[in-house]
Amino acid sequence: MSTKIVIDCDPGHDDAIAILLALASPELELIGVTTVAGNQTLDKTTRNALVTLEVAGRSDIPVAAGAAAPLRRELRTAAHVHGETGLDGPELPETSALPVEAHAADFLAELIEPGVVLVPTAPLTNLALMLERHPDVPDRLERIVWMGGSIAEGNVTPAAEFNAFVDPEAAAAVFASGIPITMIGLDVTHKAFFTRAHAERLRGAGRAGRFVAELSDFFQQFHERSYGFDGSPIHDAMAVAHVIDPSLVTTRHVNVAVEVRSELCDGRTVVDLRGVSGRAPNAEVGVDVDADRFLELLVSRLASLA
Ligand code: BDR
Ligand code: CA
Repeated sequence: MSTKIVIDCDPGHDDAIAILLALASPELELIGVTTVAGNQTLDKTTRNALVTLEVAGRSDIPVAAGAAAPLRRELRTAAHVHGETGLDGPELPETSALPVEAHAADFLAELIEPGVVLVPTAPLTNLALMLERHPDVPDRLERIVWMGGSIAEGNVTPAAEFNAFVDPEAAAAVFASGIPITMIGLDVTHKAFFTRAHAERLRGAGRAGRFVAELSDFFQQFHERSYGFDGSPIHDAMAVAHVIDPSLVTTRHVNVAVEVRSELCDGRTVVDLRGVSGRAPNAEVGVDVDADRFLELLVSRLASLA
């Protein structure tokens, strides 16, 4: 029996690869994709989700566009990481596929039923709107596995990771919702690098493999330039991989609160590893990953796509 998942994303190189990993994995059934503004504006992230599905020959999977801006802040994009299109690198194919009419917040509420895992890999604006508009959702949503946050340092500010920083109010609402949530943050995603050697294994492996190799060529330049990394963390794919095989990431059950009122620390995910706050645990937080096994799963699954 496969697990039904919905990916809420802002493609974004690693979001696109996360979608492809889900499509390549028999353990999962991707029943929908929803998009939000984040790495790029909503029109671009939505187009990129449609293009990614087209590359995999899966334009049958419905896409719904959601929030064009965070709940209460100006949008801050990551064009310096993902380029002007949001998926710079490969030549992006045309697609005639269109998003469904429903807003992502309503479409998510429609898709969620017991057994469905929601995998957001972006700012949590759509999820927060879904909770506002559909207060019954927490009763039937068993689990969220989110790529975002960080126990230690951030990547947009010293304190905050991008997905948490862009819409901290939304992240705070989701962590306060009582829905079981797993946080796959920078502490684990920065332990596994997709290298040029991985890209070469994929370059000749069909349309999707070449697409990923060309995405990685561009993504890699940012990580070399900015961090001196010998590869790229494919952040969002690790959240999908954790649903495929929970043993890949070690988690701890702890309290997470999100800072929304600080000049220096807005968007910080405050992870209480030692239980000093007295706040009850509300999340599983990734603290370690079997990087080799994750990367092997990722590359071998992507290579299997036509
Ligand atoms: C996260 O931010 C985005 O740029 C990536 O797609 C990923 O979801 C990493 O901080
Ligand atoms: Ca993302």
